[in-house]
Amino acid sequence: MREKVLTQEELKKQVGIEAAKYVKNEMIVGLGTGSTANYMIDELGRKIKEEHLKIIGVTTSKATSKQAQALGIPLKAIDEVEYVDLTIDSADEISENFHGIKGGGGALLFEKIVASYSRQYIWIVDESKLVKQLGAFPLPVEVVKYGAKQLYRFFENKGYHPHFRTTNEGKKFITDSGNYIIDLHLEVIANPIILGEELDKFVGVVEHGLFLNMVNKVIVGTKKGLRTYSN
Ligand code: 5RP
Repeated sequence: MREKVLTQEELKKQVGIEAAKYVKNEMIVGLGTGSTANYMIDELGRKIKEEHLKIIGVTTSKATSKQAQALGIPLKAIDEVEYVDLTIDSADEISENFHGIKGGGGALLFEKIVASYSRQYIWIVDESKLVKQLGAFPLPVEVVKYGAKQLYRFFENKGYHPHFRTTNEGKKFITDSGNYIIDLHLEVIANPIILGEELDKFVGVVEHGLFLNMVNKVIVGTKKGLRTYSN
């Protein structure tokens, strides 16, 4: 009998459920944002109800807070905990050397803050997110509103092909912190470290979506089964 080929959505669900196995009783858990992280959060909600798992969640977006609250996951703010035991999140692209682009869902700032205070950091993705080199996915840069057009022009002059992120209604996208996102259409990022350092220096840039040397483990859903890589 021929095996059923899993859809991308099914792969996301599979990695979400797999990642939840790393969450142990009494842990403080960073809860990522996006469609893949949603499956992991649903699974934690199930474990809390059916298996009496006891955890505290620290969320990375308003959307995740809403989902976690609806599932009855106890939450604390990042400033109310000393550290986070484990954060599980997804990514938009992961390169062979474990660098990543995040922020497709616009939550890069809180995601990076929570990840920075985490003892362990796991990414869960379907195989479409694995790339040789970062850059095909537009790199999100969160910027304050004041002077955003100046930054936009600056990026344009540098050949970074910037686009203000917009909503379906054509309005500028506003992050949970009240900022704009400028997506840089770079196609290839030859040196993510150098680009990250450059973006860190621009006045008005709050954060960028390059997550470099941060992740400890990557769980990948592939059509041939789950693969786990340790960094
Ligand atoms: C949100 C993110 C997401 O983790 C990333 O966009 C992946 O999302 P999805 O699981 O829906 O593919 O960085 O800011």
